[in-house]
Amino acid sequence: MTASQHVPQTEDLSERVESLLTQMTLAEKAGQLTQLFYFDLPPQDDAEGGLPIDLAAQPAMVEATAAEGGVGSLLFLRDPAEINRLQRLVIDGNRLGIPALIGFDVIHGFRTILPVPIALAASWDPDVIEAGQAVAAREARAVGIHWAFAPMVDIARDPRWGRIIEGAGEDPYLGSAVAAAQVRGFQGSGIGAPDRIIAGPKHFAGYGAALGGRDYDEVNLSDYELWNVYLPPFHAAVKAGAGNLMTAYMDLNGIPATGNHWLLAEVLRDGWGFDGFLVSDAQAVHNLVTHGFAADLTDAAARAVSVGLDLEMAIHDPAYAHLPEAVEQGLVDEEALDTCVRRMLAVKLKLGLFDDPFVDEDQARTVLADPGHREVARTAAQRTAVLLRNEGDVLPLTGRGAIAVVGPLADSKRDTLGPWVFEHDVEETVTILRGIRDRAGGEVRVDYAPGIRPAYRVFPSMFDMFGGNTPVEPDAFDDKAELDRAVGLAAGAAVAVVVVGEWQNMIGEAASRSSLELPGDQLALLKAVVDTGTPVVLVVMNGRPLDLRWASENVPAILDVWYPGSQGGAAVADLIFGEVSPGGKLPFTWPRTVGQVPIYYNHTISHEPANQGRRYWDEESTPLYPFGYGLSYGRFQYDDLRVDQDRIQSGGEATVSVTVTNVGDRRGDEVVQLYIHQRHGASSRPVRELKGFERLSLDPGESRTVTFRLGPDELRYWNAGAHDWVVDATELDVYVGGDSTASLSTSVAVEGSTPAPGQSRGA
Ligand code: BGC
Repeated sequence: MTASQHVPQTEDLSERVESLLTQMTLAEKAGQLTQLFYFDLPPQDDAEGGLPIDLAAQPAMVEATAAEGGVGSLLFLRDPAEINRLQRLVIDGNRLGIPALIGFDVIHGFRTILPVPIALAASWDPDVIEAGQAVAAREARAVGIHWAFAPMVDIARDPRWGRIIEGAGEDPYLGSAVAAAQVRGFQGSGIGAPDRIIAGPKHFAGYGAALGGRDYDEVNLSDYELWNVYLPPFHAAVKAGAGNLMTAYMDLNGIPATGNHWLLAEVLRDGWGFDGFLVSDAQAVHNLVTHGFAADLTDAAARAVSVGLDLEMAIHDPAYAHLPEAVEQGLVDEEALDTCVRRMLAVKLKLGLFDDPFVDEDQARTVLADPGHREVARTAAQRTAVLLRNEGDVLPLTGRGAIAVVGPLADSKRDTLGPWVFEHDVEETVTILRGIRDRAGGEVRVDYAPGIRPAYRVFPSMFDMFGGNTPVEPDAFDDKAELDRAVGLAAGAAVAVVVVGEWQNMIGEAASRSSLELPGDQLALLKAVVDTGTPVVLVVMNGRPLDLRWASENVPAILDVWYPGSQGGAAVADLIFGEVSPGGKLPFTWPRTVGQVPIYYNHTISHEPANQGRRYWDEESTPLYPFGYGLSYGRFQYDDLRVDQDRIQSGGEATVSVTVTNVGDRRGDEVVQLYIHQRHGASSRPVRELKGFERLSLDPGESRTVTFRLGPDELRYWNAGAHDWVVDATELDVYVGGDSTASLSTSVAVEGSTPAPGQSRGA
């Protein structure tokens, strides 16, 4: 049988669960609730930045535990033969033959690498996001992976935090739409659907607000921010049917998220009715002791199970191994354990794992090689790019003159993929240089020079053990000669494409930064190329906003391509040469400098709003580029903004419509965005709030009327005084346009007020 043939359960699921449960010892139950990493890595010679374990001894330790029935789930396996072997070991080692659930970080693709998640969000295109994650799911399922630790739906408003790259940016509305699209992509029609895997939104909750942008550090969020900003994407993912959720590492308002009764029991289970299984982040149950919350590992295990944390993800020394003593000492009821075990058994049954635990390795190879998957990745990369500047319509390139491609990132296969990939085939990656050369064919001359050596982290990354930033031999790189060569090529070319950004290990988990500057000598290289007088197209590879103040004034064209994935270079060439138009929009506010962060568009209005842009005396406090911003090869005009009624009754809804016309002379894409502002009410409300969007492709002269619904879901907000959802009687300003500074507006009254109909607390 193959991975794609889901075997329907003939027996009643809960009967099978109960029959297994009644046969299980306490130790066997604890084993079901334990998930272990299985690292199969080449020997590591540098422990710095690595994990605090003996990596060489790790596989044998896991296999011994599995052979004794101590493993319910495994992670980090990705080879189908290895997965089958380990699965056999788990089943044989379990007295009741219970198979393992196999999880993995399928973040933005498995073999075929999609653009990074922040890029997917920049597409503002839920269909493309769903299609991309469906490909990732199909590949992962083919090798025997059942569940993705994704999507990351943490709101991030501080780009110093490296994991901003894994989410959808700063906005709860966009974040919710992207979260739901990813859940649909991973899971399809639901748990057990052929070629799909379980989605595991993470990290519940608030992780993106790490103090100072420092990964793992504490988070303090007000009631107002939690409910209005940080929780909505999780709720959207739960409503979309996510089968799992992962808890966060840090303290949330002083209580570790992984042992947080309010968060996990009251909000998630009681309030939202989440009935999937909950997993901790890696070592996060163990960390309940590190936080100074639990007294010891037994206490940690008892407290995690008591709040409904079903599965412990452990790198070493699982706390859940202490569950039998915790029950015996009366620290936790066996019934609480049983509830967790039931959820884990149920999910394995729903997946059909008892009947069909193994995968077909030949079939896996065929699925991973599917050329259709590469096409999905290429389309996604085309749709995610954001055109930040295009003075004098430098882009698209139409001439036949020579092109100089400059910068070390332009031809780095590994960096083009971005972080959080492990199963990619680096050789098949299309770099930007390759993409430009392929598209230029023999007709246009394309020369390349890196110009400078790569930049490095001060402190190494733990991910470097999977292959990092290849060091350049100090003597093998003549800095002066290389810079001269790059400048010479640019001087002799009709156009220079300069690629800058961060190396992929500078962004992601444990990759927070105290600055947003271009690492290394990239700015100097850019300035030297611009000085030649040759028109420059700046291509930016990034997962966070970088300091582009100089470029934004001195470089005519800037295209943000993020880390565009396996087909990235091909897609970038499609965009640069005008085969398709850029149409992505920023999912975050782009600051001028790191001193402005956190900065986000949907702030409230305060004293002297006219001076909002001059809050600092040494630098404007406005963004370099606003949330929702991005250009296209088309130009768009907005007309006839209307609300179909003068007043919305609380609980009722209105329709907003607007006509969008491409008044440019090329086909282009626009993301039409709807924002509201509440003029008065029981709380100060943000200056703008996104409440609808739609991406269009229009030919020159083509018009489209777009409609949006404004109803209770869009009007309600969490009132920190009432501790509840409310809809205020008020006057709403309604703005529609191509970014968060849209000027076309109208207004509509809202009548009747709180509490929002049909919305009880927490729901
Ligand atoms: C990360 C998670 C990830 C897990 C497993 C943790 O360090 O925070 O997001 O899923 O490792 O790799």
